[in-house]
Formats: sequence, structure tokens, C-alpha cells
Amino acid sequence: MKILIIGNGGREHAIACKISENKNVEKIYCAPGNGGTALMDICENINIMGIDKLKDFALKEQIDLTIVGPEGELVDGIVDVFKKNGLKIFGPDKKASMLEGSKTFSKEFMDRYGVKTAEYKTFLNADDAFNYINTCSYPVVIKADGLANGKGVSICNNYKEAEETIKKFMIDDIFKGSGKKIIIEEFLEGIEASILSITDGKIIVPFISAKDHKQIYDENKGPNTGGMGAIAPNPYVTYEVLEDFNENILKPTLEGIKKEEFDYRGIIFFGVMITKKGVYLLEYNVRLGDPETQVVLPLMDSDLVELIKASLNKELSSFDLKWKNAYSCCVVAVSEGYPGNYKKGFKINIDKKVNSFIAGATFKEGDLLTNGGRIICTYAIENNLADSIDKAYKEMDKVHFHGMYFRKDIGKQY
Ligand code: AMP
Ligand code: GLY
Repeated sequence: MKILIIGNGGREHAIACKISENKNVEKIYCAPGNGGTALMDICENINIMGIDKLKDFALKEQIDLTIVGPEGELVDGIVDVFKKNGLKIFGPDKKASMLEGSKTFSKEFMDRYGVKTAEYKTFLNADDAFNYINTCSYPVVIKADGLANGKGVSICNNYKEAEETIKKFMIDDIFKGSGKKIIIEEFLEGIEASILSITDGKIIVPFISAKDHKQIYDENKGPNTGGMGAIAPNPYVTYEVLEDFNENILKPTLEGIKKEEFDYRGIIFFGVMITKKGVYLLEYNVRLGDPETQVVLPLMDSDLVELIKASLNKELSSFDLKWKNAYSCCVVAVSEGYPGNYKKGFKINIDKKVNSFIAGATFKEGDLLTNGGRIICTYAIENNLADSIDKAYKEMDKVHFHGMYFRKDIGKQY
């Protein structure tokens, strides 16, 4: 098989590693890939961007399967284009991708099918939003309707913060259209969990749960990032939490996918909040999470290519998805200044044997060089959580680059 992976993060490096375990995979193309995929013998990075050009490449190279990492291409309809051209691609169609591509679309979907979620109101007009924030109790959560590179959510503790956010999103238009429409949502207090799942449109099969660590500093302080580390399984996702999730979130979501006649053969990722009043859905993502993938895929015992095939053939119900009876942790090292401005191009000194997934780094003339905010994650799988955390940190001791920063408390504070 020849496989094409779209994306350039740690998530895509982890996907490439997992699918390379399948003996029938002879070649993996990564568009554009990163320094991690560049170093895999089976992979070739290709510098092709844009849905049409990717489609042309897949046709020319007779790609057997395309896996889409990030949400952007999915929301832009890559699945529809590839399918129209007879190409096999794993992911939801454009319509279903709106579950991530538009917050109002997804909240209305949740309402229609009774998926448990926070109360909210939609605003198309800044004056109406300014009036509304005079009347609500704080904190409130303000969300840009469209994709905003993970930056479209603001938790506002008072009127002033809410006013500033509305101004930035709706009037200053910092997300170039994505914030012209906003939702203002009830603030939920609790513990977050990421439940990545696979669907074939007939059933949804949850993966092992994970816990992301979004803030830049220890003890969940400072601004949000793309994710500073993760553990799996999430210790808070107990049997009771899963029952609640199944009943109030998964089942009604599946009913909606069927009734709306989405062509959904892909990943559905539930970002949930576990509260005193039960489990609430914060958001759907229509792709794997980053860095959750880097802890979840190493725990998967089954073959990922076969699993994806079962989804594409709508045969997930007869696939026996197996997990290792183990725990995993990953710690992400980032550039100095991230999530704000940072410099690039520093040499990464790393022992070849380190258990790691590369994210924002390129491979140039024999060296790995920093090329983004999140650079690399080290990971470990062990029989218990504490050992997996210790081991992931020991692996991080073998990585060095100028200005390197990582959190010291991944998985430690529950
Ligand atoms: P989202 O993109 O909707 O997942 O939001 C990003 C982050 O904002 C989430 O991971 C939560 O940490 C936080 N968040 C979103 N919605 C809420 C809410 N209703 N209450 C509390 N925190 C929230
Ligand atoms: N880690 C959260 C995300 O991928 O959106």
C-alpha cells in the first residue's frame, strides 16, 4: 500500500509511526511532513499544498489511502474532492466537518439531538452581544464561530474582558471572518477529558481516553497552547463517567450523524468537561487531537490501517479493537517565547534512541532544526502512570536545544 498523510505535526509523525507497523505498507508520503517523518526510511516528505494539487498527486502516484491530520483540509472539503475522483480517504465529508468548522452548527446539532452541552446564545451583531454581556453572570465563555487555529475561545471573568473579546472577534475581525459570528456560553467548572473515537457512520467506537495539558506553565497557569503534554488513559474517566458519556453524548451524536445523513467515516473527538452535574460536551473535533494522538496511538494494540479500512468499509462493528493494558505519557518541549513569538533554526541535539515524536522541526543537511512553537515530545509506555511519567521525563533529559522549555508537572497533578 501507498499511503498519503496530510499534516506536519507531532500527531502526523505518530500516525506515520503507527501505520508503518503494517507489513503491507510499502511507502508513506507526508504532505508536508516534518523532521520526524523525514528521518523515517519508509516516509518521503512532499512539499505539496492545496486540495487540488494533493488530489492530482494522489491520482498520479496511485495512493491507496489518504489520512488527513488537521481540520482545515477536512472543513475545506478534501474528502468530497478525493471521493469524487475515486480516491480512498479517511475523514468526514465537508458537511460533517462543520461539527468542528462552525461552533453554531455544532451547538445546533447538539440541541437537535439532545447532546448534553453548556447553555449558549449566538450573536451576529456586536451591539446585541454588548447588550447581552450586561445581563449575564460571570465567567462566560466567548467562542468564534469558525476555525481560529485553537485561539477562538476566550474565558471572560468580567464585563470588561467580555467587551474586549467581542471587540477583537467581531469588530477588529482578528480571525479574518471566523469571529464575525460568535457564541456566548455558560462557563462549566470541572475536569476536561479528550475522548478520541472512530466512526463508520453506523457505530462510534471510543478510543482510550486522554488528558491534555493546555496551559503553558505548571499548575495550569498562563495562556493556552496547542497542548504541552498528555496522559492516557485519563484517570478521571471512570466507568461511571463513560456510562454518562455514552448515554448523554455518544448515543445522541450517533443518532444525529445518521439522521443528518453525513458521510462520516473518520475520527470524531469529543472534548468533554466532567462536572458535578455530569459529563458535558464542550466541542467536537473531526480529527485526531494533538498531543493526545501521541499517547493514544502507542497504546493501540490493533493495526491502525486495518481499523481505518474497517471504518471505510462500514464494518467497524465486527472489528475487535484492542488496547495495551498500560499507561502512557508525553511531554512536549517548546521554543522560548511560545505561545507568543519565538525564534527558529536552533539545532536540536538528540540521542537517536529517544522515544519521541517530532513536531515543529525540520531535517536539513544532517541536522534537526527548530522550526515552530511545539518542537518535540518524548513519550513512554509503562505498566503504571507514575512510571510512564518518570520515563517520559527521563527521555526529555536526552533532548537539548537553545531556549527549550517544557512543563514539569504533566500528569502529576490530579
Ligand atoms: P473548545 O475549542 O470549545 O474546546 O474550547 C477550548 C477550551 O476552552 C476547552 O478545552 C476548555 O478548556 C475551554 N472551554 C470551552 N468551553 C468551555 C465552557 N463552556 N466552560 C469552561 N471552559 C470551556
Ligand atoms: N489537544 C486538543 C486538540 O487537538 O484540539
